[in-house]
Amino acid sequence: MKRILKWSLAVVAVLVVTGFGAFLYFIPPFFLIAPEQFSKDIMAAPPPVGDIADPAERAIAERGLYIVRTTGCIGCHATNGPQGPDLTKYLAGGAVKFQTAHATYVSRNLTPDKETGLGKWTRAEIVTALVKGKRPDGRELAPIMPWRAFAHLSKSDANAIAAYLQSLPPVKNEVPGPFGPKEKVSVFVMDLVPAEVFNSLPPPPPPPAAK
Ligand code: HEC
Repeated sequence: MKRILKWSLAVVAVLVVTGFGAFLYFIPPFFLIAPEQFSKDIMAAPPPVGDIADPAERAIAERGLYIVRTTGCIGCHATNGPQGPDLTKYLAGGAVKFQTAHATYVSRNLTPDKETGLGKWTRAEIVTALVKGKRPDGRELAPIMPWRAFAHLSKSDANAIAAYLQSLPPVKNEVPGPFGPKEKVSVFVMDLVPAEVFNSLPPPPPPPAAK
């Protein structure tokens, strides 16, 4: 009896250890890249703009590249590969999902793919989404997309970001959602503010009076 118990315990221990290892290995947010290496990879990831023939347009997109790289769009708009973010599919979205009390939002594909990305949006439409949070179909973007902060970009910087996004290699990546509060979410979700917590928060103070 004792031996059976000992062996079953050993089997359980092995299963737990290998199971946990598999969890760390396969679940995308726990990828096995050293943080120093990862931040280097992220800085090196933005595709360059050297192929743009018109020098004026190239200069605008170069400025956009600089802003996109330094404001961390990739932190949310990355795409998952088997070992964490796949930086070769730059800004193709889908890696990060945010759940609020109202809906679950998935970071979207910002590459100019015509079916799954921004390929059919004009530059002005991209700028409007960035600084006003309005998509061409009229839907307002969730505030987790920091468009309220981007509203303070200068016109030329917002335009430069849009120019850079339009110069990216198109990547086909259909991003699901947004999902309604009762819909089944088919993807991994970062619980930003769990519904119970959100609903129990006191209402925010009224905004300061306009000067
Ligand atoms: C904190 C996470 C986060 C960061 C940082 C972020 N985004 Fe987003 N973005 C999102 C999410 C989530 C959505 C989808 C929101 C929705 O569906 O309502 C989104 C949507 C968008 C859209 C609309 C696309 C569409 O198909 O509707 C554009 C354009 C965009 N982001 C551009 C950018 C750019 C450019 C940057 C960097 C300057 C950036 N985002 C940084 C999370 C982020």
